[in-house]
Amino acid sequence: MLRHGWWKVVVFLLCLGPVGYLGWRFYTEDLTANPLEYITHFTGDWSIRLICVTLAITPLRKLLHAPDLIRFRRMIGLYAFFYASLHFLTYLWLDRLFDFQDLAKDIAKRPFITAGFAAFVLMLPLAVTSTRGWIRRMGGKRWQALHRLVYGAGIVAVVHYYWLVKSDVRLPLLYGGIVGVLLLYRAVAWMRARFRSTRPAIAEVVRDRMA
Ligand code: HEM
Repeated sequence: MLRHGWWKVVVFLLCLGPVGYLGWRFYTEDLTANPLEYITHFTGDWSIRLICVTLAITPLRKLLHAPDLIRFRRMIGLYAFFYASLHFLTYLWLDRLFDFQDLAKDIAKRPFITAGFAAFVLMLPLAVTSTRGWIRRMGGKRWQALHRLVYGAGIVAVVHYYWLVKSDVRLPLLYGGIVGVLLLYRAVAWMRARFRSTRPAIAEVVRDRMA
């Protein structure tokens, strides 16, 4: 069922929804008393949510026996990057007024900004190499290895969130738990695959010893 072309349109529109909603609140001048804070938080929230969804696609494919979910991973990942870019741009433009020296000082001095910037930088090569042409150029294995950076981006984004909240750390911990479980799932899957591929060799050694 997920192979129908219109599913992609549905997912595209769902991911576009939040920015449409933000645009509507801008148009109706309803961005709260502190628009800068509202837009920064809104875009940051959607970026971290979509990073989690991107990371969840592979386990969900297996758990739900829905291999076609893979068709949406690139789009959702690119949307996570899109919201991160809006988030960064809001900060750079409305908060730092495009003062790059100020930005560099902030990155060096405030640990939560350092972590946020690191998460953004980790996502950059993933967005650039997300096309089929890049998969061909790099080769599947190297491309997959590079795209594991998304776990790094997820972890650093959680650290960014955890460091910036002053008192209530429940949400950053929730995101941390989600990223942690997804990472654990991948680690277990990787170890099982490795064990399976080395099992024939182990069996051979045992057979030789018994002979
Ligand atoms: C993948 C990249 C990033 C993600 C996923 C992310 C995520 C988040 C999240 C979830 C929040 C909190 C939202 C809330 O409280 O509702 C936030 C806040 C914030 N982020 Fe990011 N962020 C990223 C990159 C950056 C970058 C590159 C910068 C600036 C260099 C930045 C600057 C900020 C600032 C200034 C706040 C608001 C802090 C406050 O209100 O005290 N973030 N971000």
